Amino acid sequence: MRNILVTGGAGFIGSHLVDKLLSEGVWNITVIDDLNDFYSPEIKRSNIAGHLTQPNYRFIEADIRDDAKLAEIFAETKFDDIVHLAARAGVRPSLSEPKLYAETNINGTVNLLELAREYGIKQFVFGSSSSVYGINEKVPFAEDDPIFQPISPYAATKAAGELICHTYSHLYDIRTVCLRFFTVYGARQRPDLAIHKFSKLITEGKPIQVFGDGSSRRDYTYVDDIIQGVRAAIDYDRSIHEVFNLGESQTVTLSELIELIENALGQKAVIDRQPWQPGDVPATYADISKSQRLLDYDPKTKIQEGIPKFVEWFRSQNR
Ligand SMILES: NC(=O)c1ccc[n+]([C@@H]2O[C@H](COP(=O)([O-])OP(=O)(O)OC[C@H]3O[C@@H](n4cnc5c(N)ncnc54)[C@H](O)[C@@H]3O)[C@@H](O)[C@H]2O)c1
Repeated sequence: MRNILVTGGAGFIGSHLVDKLLSEGVWNITVIDDLNDFYSPEIKRSNIAGHLTQPNYRFIEADIRDDAKLAEIFAETKFDDIVHLAARAGVRPSLSEPKLYAETNINGTVNLLELAREYGIKQFVFGSSSSVYGINEKVPFAEDDPIFQPISPYAATKAAGELICHTYSHLYDIRTVCLRFFTVYGARQRPDLAIHKFSKLITEGKPIQVFGDGSSRRDYTYVDDIIQGVRAAIDYDRSIHEVFNLGESQTVTLSELIELIENALGQKAVIDRQPWQPGDVPATYADISKSQRLLDYDPKTKIQEGIPKFVEWFRSQNR
């Protein structure tokens, strides 16, 4: 059995990763999550409810900013791998709480890398974001494109996280694999994200706020595909530091997305058009050729199939 630490394992993506690891039966899994109230901690508790009864699973409610607490946890268990997904996520709230984002996403990441160094942990997978590409005009975004134009504090903290991963890999021989997730959706999606938020409001007959003219484009990635990429990154061993895009490599406009949700719900949206939001990027679009080549990444769920699947889950939660 290998010991793996998953930070943020009560969240949307982290809880799906834990499902996958539990299904393999070869992992002793420790999750660290502070169950903060960025969205309801009750949702996070329900994400982990099925995990808590598993013998090879341990949940620790702790904050990655608390380095003394982290030191206790690392002293107790020798981890083989770390998948670091705990973060303050969300672009718009980062504009009002930049310090919280920096403390969690940058200092928290350094705390974990420091302990990885101290305890000789050799594999560190970091959950980064497509937002690091900022307002780059060249699409699709490729991993070696410059990332010096982030336009939100959130994006800047993720870029900083990647840089500090590179530093630790270079200095201390820790393999760091940074995964740039492109807007992830599926069962348990965060309630602040558009697909979930829109589905809820449309169902309730309430207006949805649409920022800009609906022409912004996103590459939406189904959570099962993301998990396939994260799982492959845990085994990745071809270089000491690598960055990978995990997207679907297919974009839809915001207007098209709303239409897909309306069709799946069988209900029309009431649109409340709002000005463009500072911090939002006009487009995301992943070049996934490197992930296909080096991780055997093979995303399968196109948005046209994924939205009905999401809506099916959403309905099961809101009966
Ligand atoms: N969902 C997406 O579309 C998306 C896109 C790009 C990147 N990401 C990144 O993927 C990761 C997971 O995102 P998610 O959508 O599952 O978000 P999430 O908010 O559902 O999960 C993050 C988890 O981290 C925990 N956490 C936050 N701060 C913490 C702290 N200080 N100490 C301990 N735990 C803490 C939260 O309680 C939460 O359960 C994040 O790093 C996020 O930035 C997500």
